Amino acid sequence: MFLYILGLLLLWFAHRWFKESKRVSNKGDKHVYITGCDTGFGHLLAKHLDELGFRVIAGCYTEIGENELKKASSDRLTTLHLDVSDSVSVGQAAALIKTLVGEKGLWAVVNNAGISVPGAPTDWLTVEDYKGLLAINLVGVIDVTLSVLPLIKKARGRVVNVSSVFGRISLFGGPYSVSKYGVEAFTNCLRVNLAPFGVKVLCIEPGCFKTNVTDPQIWAKSVKEIWDRLPQDVKDDYGPDYLDNILQAVNARLKLLSDSDLMKVVGCMEHAIAAVYPRTRYSPGWDAKLIWLPLSYMPSFVTDALFLKFIPK
Ligand SMILES: NC(=O)c1ccc[n+]([C@@H]2O[C@H](COP(=O)([O-])OP(=O)(O)OC[C@H]3O[C@@H](n4cnc5c(N)ncnc54)[C@H](OP(=O)(O)O)[C@@H]3O)[C@@H](O)[C@H]2O)c1
Repeated sequence: MFLYILGLLLLWFAHRWFKESKRVSNKGDKHVYITGCDTGFGHLLAKHLDELGFRVIAGCYTEIGENELKKASSDRLTTLHLDVSDSVSVGQAAALIKTLVGEKGLWAVVNNAGISVPGAPTDWLTVEDYKGLLAINLVGVIDVTLSVLPLIKKARGRVVNVSSVFGRISLFGGPYSVSKYGVEAFTNCLRVNLAPFGVKVLCIEPGCFKTNVTDPQIWAKSVKEIWDRLPQDVKDDYGPDYLDNILQAVNARLKLLSDSDLMKVVGCMEHAIAAVYPRTRYSPGWDAKLIWLPLSYMPSFVTDALFLKFIPK
């Protein structure tokens, strides 16, 4: 009986491996639009897809980012300036993409651009802190997607949204998790809405990887600025040592958890774009698979107790 079950399992894994290893053809005819290509996953993905033969349209936030990417890629790759929080910029990018892709339409859009600060206990933040991050991480994703959706439908293509494990579980105050939960909800609706048109909508939920988003120095600078502007009564509620304790705790966790192999994430993004049968969700990173996803299925009293145990008092 045991051998029979083992055999069935092995057969199932072999079937899945074979199915998932198939890639789409005619990559040279397929345009892929990626946001946030200056650094991190977006930058690496743009170069990787370019090497594989796709026609990459790389949205960069800065001129330096555009120049770096142009230097490192073939002339198939096009860069454009893009601020996802600015609808005018998003619209201009979409108009240019329409002329580039022509009748074939756009094979894929990868909503990758994002930031992680400000992040701090909720009563340290203002609504403006929320609005600024949500404009990039959530409204930016929606705006960019809507701007190119007709082109994606024409190609019966794909929308790949970069969420996070913190779109499945929220651990620390601030707008980051709020934005990623929103990306998850948007992705889930879109997947169902677009299935009848032959469009696939996929979601990447990475754990912690070493990029600017998890840079302890960027994070510490932001938290210190927020602390400095706090009214004295809020500072008194937390006590004089709280800032140092929380900075140390976050620094230690980020060092322990952050994986420097960004190709684990880029490989999942490539699969979502290029596989004939992509997965609905990808969770790259050992911490995603072993810590955050299992925790996300636990009852709130368990996760609350764990988080309360680990955050400084
Ligand atoms: N690293 C992780 O552990 C992790 C985990 C889960 C999910 N993610 C997600 O992965 C995505 C990529 O982040 P990353 O880790 O690769 O960090 P990253 O290196 O900071 O990449 C984010 C990119 O977005 C760009 N960007 C920022 N604001 C923008 C705007 N308004 N318009 C257009 N582009 C903008 C940044 O440009 P500049 O560099 O010029 O500012 C940068 O190139 C993000 O959505 C992030 O939330 C990251």
